[in-house]
Amino acid sequence: MFFNILLYLFYVAGFIVLLGLGLVYTYQCKLIYPAQFPEGSRVEVSLPSDHDMPYYEDLTLTTRDKVKIKAYLIKRSTDEETKKACTLLYFHANAGNMGHRLPIAQIFYKMFNCNVLMLSYRGYGLSEGTPGEQGIRIDAQTALDYITEHPLLKNTKVIAYGQSIGGAVAIDLVAHNEDRIHGLILENTFLSLPKLIPHLMPFLSSVSFLCHQKWNSEVAIQRIAKTPILFLSGQRDELVPPQHMRALFENAITSGGKSFNEFNSTHNDTCLAPNYFDTVGEFWASSIDDSFLNMNK
Ligand SMILES: *[C@@H]1O[C@H](CO)[C@@H](O)[C@H](O)[C@H]1NC(C)=O
Ligand SMILES: *[C@@H]1O[C@H](CO)[C@@H](O)[C@H](O)[C@H]1NC(C)=O
Repeated sequence: MFFNILLYLFYVAGFIVLLGLGLVYTYQCKLIYPAQFPEGSRVEVSLPSDHDMPYYEDLTLTTRDKVKIKAYLIKRSTDEETKKACTLLYFHANAGNMGHRLPIAQIFYKMFNCNVLMLSYRGYGLSEGTPGEQGIRIDAQTALDYITEHPLLKNTKVIAYGQSIGGAVAIDLVAHNEDRIHGLILENTFLSLPKLIPHLMPFLSSVSFLCHQKWNSEVAIQRIAKTPILFLSGQRDELVPPQHMRALFENAITSGGKSFNEFNSTHNDTCLAPNYFDTVGEFWASSIDDSFLNMNK
């Protein structure tokens, strides 16, 4: 009798554990890609013209797996200038949509006289589909291919910029397209999701093997052979331990040069740090293109 109850409890416990593991496995994308936050992110996306950038195209790109994603191409005021400018390819962090990043895009646009191509990943903003590692990689490739095929942009220098999980997107894209990208700027990104989860969600650390979303930047960054890389690291980052950025920097072997810069900032306010854009400017001028220095005189 006692033995039967024990066996019964054992089955119940086993069932609950399996159910829990199943839920973690199935719903991790909802945790990792909070596209519905902040509220309204799936219905409202502000426009470049709201941020003093009137020369833009509101694009719908179709990926090779037939998902329609939204992107903005923000151009200079004339075709001639657009052709001569660099193009910033902007990969946003894991909440919200591209519209939330327009104030940051605007600083790049004004300071470096560049074009900006930015996208909302699938399942974000007004883009169709659901987020996931394989799909977002395709989205990034779609955006780069758009630049490569665009009559005004095809000969521009492309700089990939990624914040947080956008850094993982950018690293992966550059690792596969070095012939078409001239610089990589990374802010507060991580070694890999399985390595980040024990820190973010300690209660899940024993099941981090269930994480099917990997974003293994630790390996991918070692495939980058020649693209210059800038690392921007918030020393008070409460979400991604700064050691991840430091380790990525140490893993990078690119012959194009790498630069590590620390800011007294947290995960999402690093770009507000006083020296942030000056640091980007030094990297941009020395490793990619210094013509903005003359234009801004
Ligand atoms: C970093 O910023 C915090 C919060 O603003 C401040 O209290 C601290 O003194 C700063 N540390 C340094 C080294 O500047
Ligand atoms: C950073 O995140 C906090 C809470 O998530 C938010 O209140 C704050 O406005 C964000 N700061 C920036 C610069 O985005």
